[in-house]
Amino acid sequence: MTSYRIVGGKRLQGDISISGSKNAVLGILAAAMMLDGPCKIENVPDIVDVQAMLEICETIGAKITPCGEGTYEIDPTNINTYEATHPKVKNIRASYYLLGALLTRFRKATMYMPGGCNFGTRPIDLHLKGFRKMGAQGTRATDIRDGIIRIVAEELKGAHIFLDVVSVGATINLMLAATKANGTTVIENAAKEPHIVDVANFLNAMGADIKGAGTDTIRVRGVPVLPGGYTYSVIPDQIEAGTYMIASAVTRGDVTIHNLIPKHMEPLTVKMLEMGFNIEQGDDWIRVTIDDGVEPEPTNFKTRPYPGFPTDLQPQATVLLCQANGLSRMHENVWDNRFQYIPELQSMGASITVMERIALINGPVSFCGARVSALDLRAGAAMVLAGLAADGVTTITCANRIERGYEKIVEKLRAVGAEIDHIPDDEEHIVSDGDE
Ligand code: UD1
Repeated sequence: MTSYRIVGGKRLQGDISISGSKNAVLGILAAAMMLDGPCKIENVPDIVDVQAMLEICETIGAKITPCGEGTYEIDPTNINTYEATHPKVKNIRASYYLLGALLTRFRKATMYMPGGCNFGTRPIDLHLKGFRKMGAQGTRATDIRDGIIRIVAEELKGAHIFLDVVSVGATINLMLAATKANGTTVIENAAKEPHIVDVANFLNAMGADIKGAGTDTIRVRGVPVLPGGYTYSVIPDQIEAGTYMIASAVTRGDVTIHNLIPKHMEPLTVKMLEMGFNIEQGDDWIRVTIDDGVEPEPTNFKTRPYPGFPTDLQPQATVLLCQANGLSRMHENVWDNRFQYIPELQSMGASITVMERIALINGPVSFCGARVSALDLRAGAAMVLAGLAADGVTTITCANRIERGYEKIVEKLRAVGAEIDHIPDDEEHIVSDGDE
């Protein structure tokens, strides 16, 4: 297990390049399992979750050949089982996409219930309800025994599906299952996140017929064959980019973040402008600075499905609000228990009161270095940000959780002037290995 040691108070300055999107590539890898021929995927981030997904895909029979620099050739033609029961299925949330992919390939899928960061109830009822509408059985809560889901469909047929709740995972999973179904599937009240568009673009490049991804109505006309045969490059990671934008802000630095899509960053840039930061941007970069003597203004954030403010940037943005001059509010509207990290921030000096789904943040505070834990992936990123801004030394235990979603975070931050190191972690007892 890993810990990080940060000597805070260094002003960050320089350039950081963003890696491929974690949540897009995990959907794309599952989608690749449905193809009738090989494909190549570029800009795959070297993070723990992706390694886990690649390992799971190999155990079901996919041939995966690394070609260097984040490129993999994926050949699913010899997949020989509909059972995804590798222990790592329980570790990563996105393993749920194998349900849609294997159901498409074999009309059957058997899988452990997926894992996930512990920030509230994390049902997959909408995924299962959608599969049921498409003709699958074994999709009721009572069918799940010993933590294993077993679904079967004699025929997968197009269906009209309305999602009661906007769900990223259900939207992608149902899109996967619809890709080779008989007839047309319409998914209404679909999620619109950039990674949904990326998975749809990947599938369309490989022969699928998906229209409307990125809007709230997605139409998928089932096709009999997905030939594959193309090279596809994964979009940049919106959450990684946002984290480094905030790193520049909380150190009153001057960092230019490259290889991002500025449009995807709008929910954050709008708020940072409101707070008084300077944001300059070009086609694929954003520079974040603040003028000398300017104190960030307080503001309110509300997490919402895209194009709202992403819940996966909520802990990081809370660190930013701690530096604003006055009272700010953070409303968490997606998950019912995503403020567990607040006591860790309080131990570094933050003045925050949590009232159910709202955190009231009193600023500005000067963080002081402390020993804190990365309770989950994004909570861990928030600890890094607080540590960078703090006076003194911060030790972040369980930092391996951060590496599930951030490629080379220590190296990237060091390159812009942060004093951050890996240290051997010999005394930690890791409770859970879950991820978002
Ligand atoms: C994905 C992301 C996660 C992010 C979340 C919201 C991945 C691997 N994870 O998670 O990082 O925090 O989107 O942007 O991409 N819901 C139901 N029933 C379901 C499914 C979801 O009620 O069957 C509810 C959830 O409890 C939650 C809301 O819908 O309140 C959104 O969840 P969802 O978008 O599905 O999140 P995930 O796909 O699990």
